[in-house]
Amino acid sequence: MKQTRGRALDRVLQHGRWAVSLLRNLHACRGLPAIASTDYRGYRIGGLERADLPAMRRLHRSLRNGSDLTPWRRILYRLHGRSLVTVARDKSGNVVGFEMFFFEKGGARKSVIHAAFIGVAPHCRNMGLATHLRHVAARHFAGAGLRGISSRVREDNVASLRSAIASGFVISRRRMESDGVTTLTMLRHLEGIGECVS
Ligand SMILES: CC(C)(COP(=O)(O)OP(=O)(O)OC[C@H]1O[C@@H](n2cnc3c(N)ncnc32)[C@H](O)[C@@H]1OP(=O)(O)O)[C@@H](O)C(=O)NCCC(=O)NCCS
Repeated sequence: MKQTRGRALDRVLQHGRWAVSLLRNLHACRGLPAIASTDYRGYRIGGLERADLPAMRRLHRSLRNGSDLTPWRRILYRLHGRSLVTVARDKSGNVVGFEMFFFEKGGARKSVIHAAFIGVAPHCRNMGLATHLRHVAARHFAGAGLRGISSRVREDNVASLRSAIASGFVISRRRMESDGVTTLTMLRHLEGIGECVS
């Protein structure tokens, strides 16, 4: 009985936290423009359209051991995916890569947005797609007047780390996890980016 009540309370608290995150993000992303469309090596890069959301969720699940976007992120990206998620589509329009963003607590005040996850389908890797997605996001958020992009990368995720460094992220903090692997907090400064991002 006590356990059931504990679980119910946990669920209520979790829904409360989700509501707070959603409200914070709805407020912070007002006025953000849509991500401009570009081409990269035969892939179309642009903002997430509503119709892309199911395909993006499928790719997310396939890259994160079946885990889905949390409900508040689904609502946020349904409403503001065009400004908060960069997507790579192949020639047939299939979503083969994406990077998703949101404002963490405190981030909006500092004009720093957080890169929550980047993923590229296995058959499209090692051709610079993730690095390019990160460049596109940097240019987009710099143009919107933000000061930085934060990210957390495990040191043993070599592909993620290399694409972050190649797109201008620097390490700002290190934290050893309980499994012995270090998580790096990284920051992409956006001031003065206009001329130097390709
Ligand atoms: C991380 C990920 C998005 C990178 O996508 P990608 O499009 O292949 O990345 P890029 O081609 O832009 O760059 C990858 C870099 O890592 C290097 N790399 C890839 N695998 C590597 C490996 N096993 N060992 C060493 N270097 C490796 C590539 O050579 C390239 O470096 P370079 O540009 O200096 O040559 C992709 O691997 C992925 O989706 N992984 C699963 C999800 C994930 O871990 N996301 C990150 C969570 S923070």
